[in-house]
Amino acid sequence: MSIRTLDDLLAEGVSGRRVLVRADLNVPLDKQTGAISDDGRIRAVLPTLGALVEAGAKVVVCSHLGRPKGAPDPQFSLSPVAGRLGELLGAPVHFATDTVGESARSTVADLADGQVALLENLRFNAGETSKDEAERGAFADQLAAFGDAYVDDAFGAVHRKHASVFDVPARLPHVAGRLVLREVEVLSKLTGDPERPYVVVLGGSKVSDKLAVIEALLPTVDRLLIGGGMCFTFLKAQGLEVGTSLLEKDMVDTCRNLLERANGKILLPVDVVVADAFAPDAAHDTVRVDGIPSHRLGLDVGPETVAGFSAALSQAKTIFWNGPMGVFEMPAFAAGTRGIAEAITKADAFSVVGGGDSAAAVRALGLDESSFGHISTGGGASLEYLEGKTLPGIAALEN
Ligand code: 3PG
Ligand code: MG
Repeated sequence: MSIRTLDDLLAEGVSGRRVLVRADLNVPLDKQTGAISDDGRIRAVLPTLGALVEAGAKVVVCSHLGRPKGAPDPQFSLSPVAGRLGELLGAPVHFATDTVGESARSTVADLADGQVALLENLRFNAGETSKDEAERGAFADQLAAFGDAYVDDAFGAVHRKHASVFDVPARLPHVAGRLVLREVEVLSKLTGDPERPYVVVLGGSKVSDKLAVIEALLPTVDRLLIGGGMCFTFLKAQGLEVGTSLLEKDMVDTCRNLLERANGKILLPVDVVVADAFAPDAAHDTVRVDGIPSHRLGLDVGPETVAGFSAALSQAKTIFWNGPMGVFEMPAFAAGTRGIAEAITKADAFSVVGGGDSAAAVRALGLDESSFGHISTGGGASLEYLEGKTLPGIAALEN
């Protein structure tokens, strides 16, 4: 890979230089309190930021949070993230209340060597995500004015062709940060020559989100285990009734076709937990997949499925997992996700957990993060990497 790294930049010396760091600080916030409910993505960027601080750089961090529509929207402010980042760094983070305006300009200008600033949400500006090259470029010019060099450490956003990810590196000397390097190193093991058996577990709600990766993985994996909301479209494709479970009707034919081509590699649930409603206290039972009542919906995989999936995982030498098996946020429907996560930690395999939701599930369920080989900070990004797509953020670093 012809990508320059943070170490190359540090070797040049960054003391007194302004270094613009694109991070992915898109952390989940509690809907009621607005508090950060999982700070994994903030922690993940500390190695890069710490090295720059230590080397005496003026560190200017930028990120998106959520999907605001190109204008300021207080519920998506990065202000709480600045507070948490400061706690983790052990030094205050100077927060700019805009991204490229007066506050940002003075905040950056006032930085002393070894200090850190965080700009307000990139997506408060239409230029960040614009499809129009000129509009994106104009915003990238403003951002690039805050740095003498650029570090991309936002692995979770490398699949986005956005100004801060794609256009800024064309304007500044650019390198990959420690997180981006580690993510690419790990994921390239999966696309290269993974030790076999290679078992992939996919969950989450939508087949349509995962279709491309299923297509790409089918020829390479030894087993593909499918749970989560998306399993019901596959069950329907097998001719089963799924009650009021999540169903993507227009994907049923596609799923049937995938099953036909899978040569038995795809394993589907044999039992599921069905409930009267999508609610934490809904009445629920475990049923066989051929006995889902018409008025109930599946919210988790059942214990026999966990046992079957676990048996497949126990044979594996390489595992990739993306997407929860059920509604793990509700304790009544968390057993499937927990069971699969535990089976992965017990397997004598190199395991990679991909994606914000799955990584958050690991932490929310109180599992030991260190018992996984790697927990990726990218959901969409890791899937697109495994699909073999060109990722705009990586491509931009390559020249
Ligand atoms: C993510 O959470 O997947 C990344 O931060 C990218 O966010 P996006 O899907 O809104 O671009
Ligand atoms: Mg996402």
